Amino acid sequence: MTKFKEIKANTYEDMSNEAATIIFDALKESKQFSLGLATGSTPEGMYDALAKKINEANLDLSELTTFNLDEYVGLDESNDQSYHYFMEQHFFSKLDIPQENIHILDGVAEDLQKEVEDYEALIDEVGIDIQVLGIGRNGHIAFNEPGTDFNSLTHKVQLTDETIEDNSRFFESIDDVPTEAVSMGLQTIMKAKTIILLISGDNKKNARDLFISGEVTEDIPVSILHNHDNVILITDSAARGE
Ligand code: F6R
Repeated sequence: MTKFKEIKANTYEDMSNEAATIIFDALKESKQFSLGLATGSTPEGMYDALAKKINEANLDLSELTTFNLDEYVGLDESNDQSYHYFMEQHFFSKLDIPQENIHILDGVAEDLQKEVEDYEALIDEVGIDIQVLGIGRNGHIAFNEPGTDFNSLTHKVQLTDETIEDNSRFFESIDDVPTEAVSMGLQTIMKAKTIILLISGDNKKNARDLFISGEVTEDIPVSILHNHDNVILITDSAARGE
């Protein structure tokens, strides 16, 4: 029943390297490539390793396109808690990707409805070859919280208290954490040809358990990935409770 493949890495560093290698090999194969990206603590090591590989090989990124999963509503790119800022710090500043090929939802767009519709249309036009995902403790992917419609497209979302609490570690006070975000929907994510799901750390053991239980329900957003034919789960030993 379960179609996904699990790469059982040992340490966080091993997990990051496994993911970076898969993406690097794909980028080497095809110059024209579209990469879906995530923010958060989990992919930081992957970004370091991937940027290093790309620069060592002097890979030409002039035809690489990127799409990020999500952004907070109300934070602009100069805000150090915005996902724009995170991506610049951890990845884009180290590489030579044409600015016009980098796509991140604009959380301060005047017309957010138009913003999410345009984003979805662009993804339909360009496509996503590999989408990288992290996971929330409650099984959320991107900002799709439990109960999100499996048919959802890029949309504005209300964050749950659990997610606000989890993300408050990056903010001065919990009151500074935005309560809304714009995010690819579950159906948007399913459009990617290949999905790499990274799960790291003992605080994510429950999230991995939820996923590998195999139950497919809107109460567990990540469970939609069981309906996708090309999912690579990469875990570290802590996430497996080993
Ligand atoms: C971030 C995102 C979120 C995170 C998730 C895990 O772009 O889409 O779903 O992947 O909240 O975050 P970390 O990795 O910080 O535990």
